[in-house]
Amino acid sequence: LDELLAEGVSGRRVLVRADLNVPFLKDSPGQIADDGRIRAVLPTITALRDAGASVIVMSHLGRPKGEPDPKYTLAPVATRFAELLGSPVTFAGDTVGPSAQEAVAALTPGGVVLLENLRFNAGETSKDDAVRGAFADQLAAFGDVYVDDAFGAVHRKHASVYDVASRLPHYAGGLVLREVEVLKRLTEDPATPYVVILGGSKVSDKLAVIEALLGKADKLLIGGGMCFTFLKAQGHEVGASLLQEEMLDTCRDLLARAGDRIVLPTDVVVADRFAGDAATDTVAATAIPAGWLGLDIGPASVALFTEALSGAKTVFWNGPMGVFELAPFANGTRGVAEAITKVDGFTVVGGGDSAAAVRALGLDEAAFGHISTGGGASLEYLEGKSLPGLEALEA
Ligand code: 3PG
Repeated sequence: LDELLAEGVSGRRVLVRADLNVPFLKDSPGQIADDGRIRAVLPTITALRDAGASVIVMSHLGRPKGEPDPKYTLAPVATRFAELLGSPVTFAGDTVGPSAQEAVAALTPGGVVLLENLRFNAGETSKDDAVRGAFADQLAAFGDVYVDDAFGAVHRKHASVYDVASRLPHYAGGLVLREVEVLKRLTEDPATPYVVILGGSKVSDKLAVIEALLGKADKLLIGGGMCFTFLKAQGHEVGASLLQEEMLDTCRDLLARAGDRIVLPTDVVVADRFAGDAATDTVAATAIPAGWLGLDIGPASVALFTEALSGAKTVFWNGPMGVFELAPFANGTRGVAEAITKVDGFTVVGGGDSAAAVRALGLDEAAFGHISTGGGASLEYLEGKSLPGLEALEA
C-alpha cells in the first residue's frame, strides 16, 4: 500500500477487496454483533481517501447461493462503515449492475462506494475459470488499481480475491501485510515454549492444522466441542455431547503420536439441553452423565490450561472453549482468554469466533499481541497451504 501511496493515487479509482463478513446478532436481523472486521480495514480506506483516491469497496457476506438474497445484504454494513469512517459511504444496490455503475461513475476524489455482496453473483465463487474471469472483468472495470485488504478471504480462489489481481496493477493492503507478518513469525522459528489452544466444534475442520502444529508446538490444548471426540477416543463416555464418530480413529492416532503434548480438559460444564436456561452441572471429563451434553470446559481445566500457558513465549489461540454466547457456558473461554493476556510472550488470537469472543466478553484487545481478522485464512496459512489471494498479489 505504501508503494501505491508513494506513486500517488490522487484522482485514481482504487478498487479495494475487504472482508466485511461480520457476524450478526442471532435474534435481531440487521444488528452487527462484532464490527472488528470493519474497523480493521479503516486505516487503508482512510489513507486512500486522504490521498485523494476514489474508493470502491467490495466484500462478501455469508454464503448466499450466487443470486441476490436480502438476508445477506451488505446494507447494514454500509451504515456501520460510514459511522466508523466518519464520512458518507454510498451503498450500491447491486454488485456490477446499473446501480453500481452509476455510483462508481458519480464518485469524486475522497468518495467511497460499497458494492452489494459479491456472492450475489455466481461468478464470484465459480470453479470455472472462464465464469469467474468474466465476473472479474466487470469488477476490474470499476478501478484503475486493485488493493487486496481482505485477509479473511485470501484462502479463497474467488473472482474478487484471485482473478481481479491479474487484471489491474495490484497491491497488498496494510491489514494483509500485518497479518502475514504475524503468521510468518508463528511459522518460521517461533520462540519456545510454543503453546497452541484450539477449540470450536469440529475436529475435521482443525485436523490439518493439528497435524501441522504437532511438529512445531510444545503443547496443544484442546477445548470446545471438538474435545469430546478426543475424550471418547480415550475411551470415555461423552453423553449427548457433540461427537464426530468418523474421526475417532484419527483422534486415537493423534493422541498416540502426540503423547503428553496434547492436553485435554479434565472437567466440563454439562447441560440437560442446549439453552441458556438449561440445568447445568460441572463434572469430571471422564464422568459425563448419559443424556447430558458438555457445553464448556470446567474450572479445573481452565486452571490446567493456565498452568500450561505459564512461561509460554509464543501462543496461538483459535476457537472458543465453549458456547460463550450463552452466559452459563462462557467461563471457559473467558478464563483461557484471560490466561493468554497474562502470558509474557507473543500472543495471537486467530480470527473468527475467538476474536469475536474477545470483544463480546469485554476483554482488553490491547492485552493480546495480535487479533487476526482471518479464521480459515490463518489456519490454512499455519497448515502451510499456498493461499490464492496472496499468490495473486505476488504474481
Ligand atoms: C471467514 O469468515 O472466514 C471469511 O470471511 C471467509 O468466509 P467463507 O468461509 O464463507 O469463505
